[in-house]
Amino acid sequence: MTLRFRHLLALEPLLREDIAFLLDQSKPFQEIQRNPLKKLATLRGKTVALLFFESSTRTRISFSTAAARLGADTMNLQAEASSVKKGESLLDTVRTLDAMKPDVIVMRHSASGAPQFVAERLKIPVINAGDGVHEHPTQGLLDALTIRDRIGHLDGLNVTIIGDIQHSRVARSDIYALARFGCRITLCGPAMWLPRECEQMAPGIRLVPRIEEALRDAQVLIVLRVQTERLLEPGLPLDEYIRLYQMTPGRLAQAQPGALLLHPGPMIRGLEIDPAVADGPQSCILEQVTNGVAVRMALLYLMAGGTPGSGGPGTD
Ligand code: NCD
Repeated sequence: MTLRFRHLLALEPLLREDIAFLLDQSKPFQEIQRNPLKKLATLRGKTVALLFFESSTRTRISFSTAAARLGADTMNLQAEASSVKKGESLLDTVRTLDAMKPDVIVMRHSASGAPQFVAERLKIPVINAGDGVHEHPTQGLLDALTIRDRIGHLDGLNVTIIGDIQHSRVARSDIYALARFGCRITLCGPAMWLPRECEQMAPGIRLVPRIEEALRDAQVLIVLRVQTERLLEPGLPLDEYIRLYQMTPGRLAQAQPGALLLHPGPMIRGLEIDPAVADGPQSCILEQVTNGVAVRMALLYLMAGGTPGSGGPGTD
């Protein structure tokens, strides 16, 4: 089986087989992370353009590590230090970089849909590394891989996602990935971040503002970062959020025994998560980071190393 699509812009249009295929393809790259020598020559001579129009630490370093471990060269754009600051349009910036002939573009942007806009205008594959409040497909894949590894499968799991669901591209991609495997998804957070439209994202989604109810029977908990600027805006004080939603050892104990705890990072200890939970045995946070490199290696390998014109239906 080869990749059915040329770009990875979102998980929403992918089928269960597509996601399972990408997770399976990440397996050999997980092995490589465990080797003392981690560098391959698979993408030698290829160039990966890393276009981060919005600041990022872990996702950018994860993609650049993935590219380096495949032997590819990278071109780096970080918006703070680029011509974007001088007022250049997105299209002019990406056309300029494209003229330097990269083989694949990895792009993060604060505007939802920006990677798709670029993908429609350039001839090379584009991987979305997080766009606005839309999607963060590689995060969705690495979360699915982490859960599948720990539990052994993804079918029909009870998954609870806690935080600012409305503005979370991570929540969206996680939902699209996990719903394909029949996971029963519960979304939990203050009512202002839990609009009714969220129910439409996948069949059987439950919106549950009370955390005690959202934790019952949960086998997987995904805690989202709190964007403090958003919290303060509509007048929910931080200490109130902590009181109502912080993942504490007591709350973790209300989920199923041994429930997994995921957080996409960067986490704010003492706000959305108690350090004892973040560092406890149920936490998968560092595995998520390690798996992120493997998932991104698999994608770069498939998208930059694949035969030209192998695209098909899907997100193309
Ligand atoms: C997330 C992001 O930027 O979307 N972080 C990440 O990529 N691991 C989550 C967040 O910033 O809240």
